[in-house]
Amino acid sequence: MEKKIIIANWKMNPQNAEEALRIVKGIAGQRFSNNVELVIAPPFIYLDLIKKNCGKEIKLAAQNAGWAERGAYTGEISSLMLKNLSCDYVIIGHSERRYKMGETEEMINLKIKAVFKTGLTPILAVGEKGQNDDIIEALTRQVKSALEGSGASEIGRLIVAYEPVWAIGTGLSDTSDHALSAALLIRKIVGNLYGSDWAKDLPVLYGGSVSGDNARDFIGQNGINGALVGGASLELDNFIKIIKAAGTNE
Ligand code: 13P
Repeated sequence: MEKKIIIANWKMNPQNAEEALRIVKGIAGQRFSNNVELVIAPPFIYLDLIKKNCGKEIKLAAQNAGWAERGAYTGEISSLMLKNLSCDYVIIGHSERRYKMGETEEMINLKIKAVFKTGLTPILAVGEKGQNDDIIEALTRQVKSALEGSGASEIGRLIVAYEPVWAIGTGLSDTSDHALSAALLIRKIVGNLYGSDWAKDLPVLYGGSVSGDNARDFIGQNGINGALVGGASLELDNFIKIIKAAGTNE
């Protein structure tokens, strides 16, 4: 059985290191199935703290990275800095960065290339904005523009998260059927660009109001390889339920 990937995206939370430590120790203190790859994406300033307290089983992700390698970019964090902090993954193109921080598709493309170049794994977040939007147009544009200039061998390291913007933080999750068809569409788009062999092995996650109560609906699907979890990843009991739901998958 392939591992399911569960990623906790803490966004701009929690507000102090004590609370970050409480959550991570609560997670690290549990025994989870070997069938789950567990990843925590805290704010940058907690990465080192989390690394020192999460044990070997839990992996680290950053929520963003600068596109440049080094130099005069005030406020930015480079992929190499993240690698040197033992990060394995970087979330790129989250809709909150696209629409609240004005990140363009060109910036996302440069960031993906920088993450690949450093040897880290990008988690490319894509998704349509409104429930009635043209999902084929939105996903095709976002996937193509993000990957332009990256080669097939790099694509072997890519993870894509399908996160419909209307489902994020709203309590209104997608249906599992729709999320699955979006995951298949993403694989088709990647297949058209790089060939079906690369696409078939591409991990595609679902994100958007995932909770302990609905996680299994998504993660239980064959074509959905895990979940990118926001709000519920800060609630210990809720998050543990999600991880257990992923571990019991047949
Ligand atoms: P919620 O789980 O809070 O809806 O957030 C999803 C998300 O944006 C994860 O990246």
